[in-house]
Amino acid sequence: MDYKNKTIWITGASSGIGEAFAKKFFKEGAKLILSSRRKEELERVKEDLGADESNCFILPLDLADSDSLQRKAKEALAAFGKIDVLVNNGGISQRSLFAETDMKTIRRLMEVNFFGSAELTRAVLPSMMEQKSGHIIVISSVAGKFGTKFRSGYAASKHALQGLFDCIRQEMYEYNVGVTMVCPGPIKTNITQNSLTADGTNFGKMGDLHKSAMDADEMVTRIWSDLKKQKEEIYVSSPKEKLALLVKRISPRLLNIILKNSKVT
Ligand SMILES: NC(=O)c1ccc[n+]([C@@H]2O[C@H](COP(=O)([O-])OP(=O)(O)OC[C@H]3O[C@@H](n4cnc5c(N)ncnc54)[C@H](OP(=O)(O)O)[C@@H]3O)[C@@H](O)[C@H]2O)c1
Repeated sequence: MDYKNKTIWITGASSGIGEAFAKKFFKEGAKLILSSRRKEELERVKEDLGADESNCFILPLDLADSDSLQRKAKEALAAFGKIDVLVNNGGISQRSLFAETDMKTIRRLMEVNFFGSAELTRAVLPSMMEQKSGHIIVISSVAGKFGTKFRSGYAASKHALQGLFDCIRQEMYEYNVGVTMVCPGPIKTNITQNSLTADGTNFGKMGDLHKSAMDADEMVTRIWSDLKKQKEEIYVSSPKEKLALLVKRISPRLLNIILKNSKVT
């Protein structure tokens, strides 16, 4: 897909991977709709891009506020008259033992990561079906493919996204709407600091795995050509996680043994 003058709606655009997507799409001549909760951070991203009203619309929203998302999608569609690409990126992670975790925390992970992206997609798809073109990009995770300690609600939400969007992909072939699942391993962003602990408060620090990980700009550059081809699944991670994904397919039992002895924070 050539992104010049295409309209791209990115959630979680105020930070990390979403901000990196905003930079890359803007460089390719796209018009952007930037969403997350923090309006002032979205304005900062817009200013850093050197964008203006003609090519960038700021649309604050809370993915956990499901009831507001159909209205937000109407505003997004009105901003430039159509949406060509929706990047479901906004999300939060987790650092807590399931047995100690409040159910409220698990529900919040599902609301933000799963129901928020599901509802925005449901709101945008009819316009893509009518225009007979579109691309839904979902930032899943290797945690959407296998689970580890301290990520129960997070991995559940990412597995749920995988199932949902496998179905949507099948439903959308006849409408020429593509679905791409991006499955990153650790990327150096604020994801760990913003992760929820058992009682729902933030973890507040960067884990060792993330300190030495690739940054978000590099991640987006690495996946760019596959993304433009609308590849259905894209893995972007260190060789270690790529190997884990392979082992999961060949021998789930072997992966469990490996993970049991691995550092996952
Ligand atoms: N970094 C990694 O290692 C990694 C690996 C695999 C997958 N991912 C996925 O990549 C995506 C982006 O994460 P990141 O690494 O870029 O982390 P990040 O720097 O913490 O960014 C998360 C983004 O999500 C937004 N967000 C959080 N809660 C929200 C809510 N309730 N409503 C709307 N927006 C919300 C945040 O904006 P506001 O605070 O302004 O709302 C922020 O823009 C997530 O889905 C994450 O699961 C990350």
